[in-house]
Amino acid sequence: MELVKAIKERRSVRKFKTDPIPQSTLQEILSLAIWAPSAMNLQDWFFVVVQGRKKEEFLKISASAFAVIKPSLEKTFKDKPKIIEGMKTFFETFGGAPVIIIAYGGKLPNGQDDDVWSVSLAVQNLMLAAYERGLGTTWMDGVVFAKEKEINDLLGIKGRKLVCTIPIGYPAEEPRVPPRHENKIEWIGF
Ligand SMILES: Cc1cc2nc3c(=O)[nH]c(=O)nc-3n(C[C@H](O)[C@H](O)[C@H](O)COP(=O)(O)O)c2cc1C
Repeated sequence: MELVKAIKERRSVRKFKTDPIPQSTLQEILSLAIWAPSAMNLQDWFFVVVQGRKKEEFLKISASAFAVIKPSLEKTFKDKPKIIEGMKTFFETFGGAPVIIIAYGGKLPNGQDDDVWSVSLAVQNLMLAAYERGLGTTWMDGVVFAKEKEINDLLGIKGRKLVCTIPIGYPAEEPRVPPRHENKIEWIGF
């Protein structure tokens, strides 16, 4: 697939078919994710790929996270109950995605501060590689802010920064294209 097409046409997908994803396809996508640049080339990231019973347990945690963020959503989307209802459903189901990938950062070269950046670049690679293979994804971090510890406990992960969760599956919707704001550049010396 042409790079420009992949960059512009990848969309956040929030409704998925139940069709399983071959593990070899997931492996391929993750193998491309790790070609992202990383701080001091430490490649300090980690991905947990979840389906089956653990995924159902994860969704229970995610569903409970909604109550935590609901008050702030009600402020932001005051007269838009449908949006809030849609978000609630997404927290509860992750759009029916057959697989959820949980992306963790590691440490910066100073060994102390969390490196959330390197894994974020890897996730963009992952999302583009998934799109090229007909799969949809969404960066979902609402659940991370509310339930980081519970997710780490469920997955048995310690000493890493949970950065985002990514439902992945064959799309069951064609998301609208959110227009881009072009005026975010300052040119100096041109
Ligand atoms: C840092 C970050 C956090 C995001 N968090 C969420 C989220 O919690 N839930 C969600 O449904 N989408 C989330 N998104 C997806 C954005 O809503 C989406 O990328 C944006 O609306 C543009 O749409 P597009 O990805 O289809 O171009 C997040 C994206 C980023 C980069």
